Amino acid sequence: MLHLTDGDVDELIEAVDVVGAVREVFLAHAAQRTVLPEESCLRWTNDQGESCRSLNMPGLVEIDGRRFAGTKIINASLGNPDRGLARADGVVLLFDLTTARPVCLMPAARVSAARTAAVSVLSAELCWARPARSVAIVGAGALAEAHLGLALRRWPSLRTVRLHDRVPAHAALLAERLQAVHPGVAFDVTATAEQAVRAAELVIPATTTTTGYIPAEWIADGAVVVNVSLDDLLPDVFTAAEKVIVDDWSLVAADTTRLLGRMYRDGDVLPPPRARAADGAGPHTVEVAAELCDIISGTASPRTSATDRVVINPFGMSLHDVAVAGKIYTAHLGTAPTPLAGAAVT
Ligand SMILES: NC(=O)c1ccc[n+]([C@@H]2O[C@H](COP(=O)([O-])OP(=O)(O)OC[C@H]3O[C@@H](n4cnc5c(N)ncnc54)[C@H](O)[C@@H]3O)[C@@H](O)[C@H]2O)c1
Repeated sequence: MLHLTDGDVDELIEAVDVVGAVREVFLAHAAQRTVLPEESCLRWTNDQGESCRSLNMPGLVEIDGRRFAGTKIINASLGNPDRGLARADGVVLLFDLTTARPVCLMPAARVSAARTAAVSVLSAELCWARPARSVAIVGAGALAEAHLGLALRRWPSLRTVRLHDRVPAHAALLAERLQAVHPGVAFDVTATAEQAVRAAELVIPATTTTTGYIPAEWIADGAVVVNVSLDDLLPDVFTAAEKVIVDDWSLVAADTTRLLGRMYRDGDVLPPPRARAADGAGPHTVEVAAELCDIISGTASPRTSATDRVVINPFGMSLHDVAVAGKIYTAHLGTAPTPLAGAAVT
C-alpha cells in the first residue's frame, strides 16, 4: 500500500481543482453515482476529562469517468491545541475497486480542511446575491485558515474580513499571517462574535462550540451563513432564514447531536422536497428548501430576492474526502517514475 506523507499531500493537492471536484461530487450524488453510508462516531472522555471522538466516514463516488472508494477516519481531542497538536487529524484510505484492498493511505487533515473550504466557497458563490465584500469568521483555527486562504484567492471582491476567536491571540495571529499575503484587504479582529457577524455579507462559524450563541438578529438582510461548525447558530437563525439548504439530508437527519438534526427530531423541520414523501408535511418552523446538488444542477433556486437570508448547513460528506484523496492519489501516480502495479482505483 502506498503511504503519502503530509508533505506529499501538501504538494500534490496543488494540482487538484478541489472546488471543481466537490462540485462534480454533488452532481454525481444527484445522479446516484455514489454510495454514502451513515458515518459512525466513537466518543469518549480521556483521563484529562477532555472530549475525544473518532469519525469513520466511508464513501464511493464516480466522477470524470472514474470511481473512487475509501474512507476518512478523522479523530479529535479538544485538548490537543494545548499539547501543541492540531485538534483534529486522521487518515484517508483509498480502496482498489476490484480487490477491495486498501491501496493508498494519506493524512486526512489537509484533505478534510480543503474539501470543507471548497464546499463552503462553492455554496457561497451559488447562494450569494452578489460577490461578498465582507466576510465574518468566528473561530480562527485550521478551518478558518483553509476557508480564508481559498476565498481570498478566488474572490477579488473581498475587502473586509472580520475575525473573532474566544482566544484573541488565535484571531490576531491568523489576521497577521493573511495580512502579509493580502495587503489590500482589511483584517479586523473583533472583541466579540457579534461585532464580527453583524453586517457581514457572508458569515462562517468555524469554532468547536456545542452551545449556540448567534441569534437571527445579528444576520444582515441578504447575508449567506455557511454553518461549518454546525452548533453556533441559535434555532431562530434557521426559523428566520428565507432559505435553508443542506449538503445531504440523510446525514443531517441521521445525526442526533447537531442543531438541525435535533430540531428535525423535535418535529420542527420539513425535509427537502426529495425526502418529503416519506416524512409527510406536518407543522414545522423550518423548511429545508434544497440540497446543494439541486442548486448546482439548477433544479432549485438559492434565493428569491437579494434580501433573503440563506443558511447553508454543510454536515460534511465523506464523498468529498474520497474524491479529493482519489485525485491526489491519481496525481501521485501521474508523477511517480514507475506506476505501481495493481494500484488503480477504478
Ligand atoms: N461541516 C464540516 O464539513 C466540517 C468539516 C471539518 C471540520 N468541521 C468543524 O469545524 C470546526 C473548526 O475546526 P478546526 O479544525 O478549525 O478547529 P480548531 O480547533 O483548529 O479551531 C477552532 C477555533 O475556534 C475557537 N473557538 C472555540 N469555541 C469558540 C467560541 N465559542 N467562540 C469563538 N471562538 C471559539 C478556538 O479557540 C479555536 O481557535 C470544528 O467544529 C469541526 O468539527 C466541520
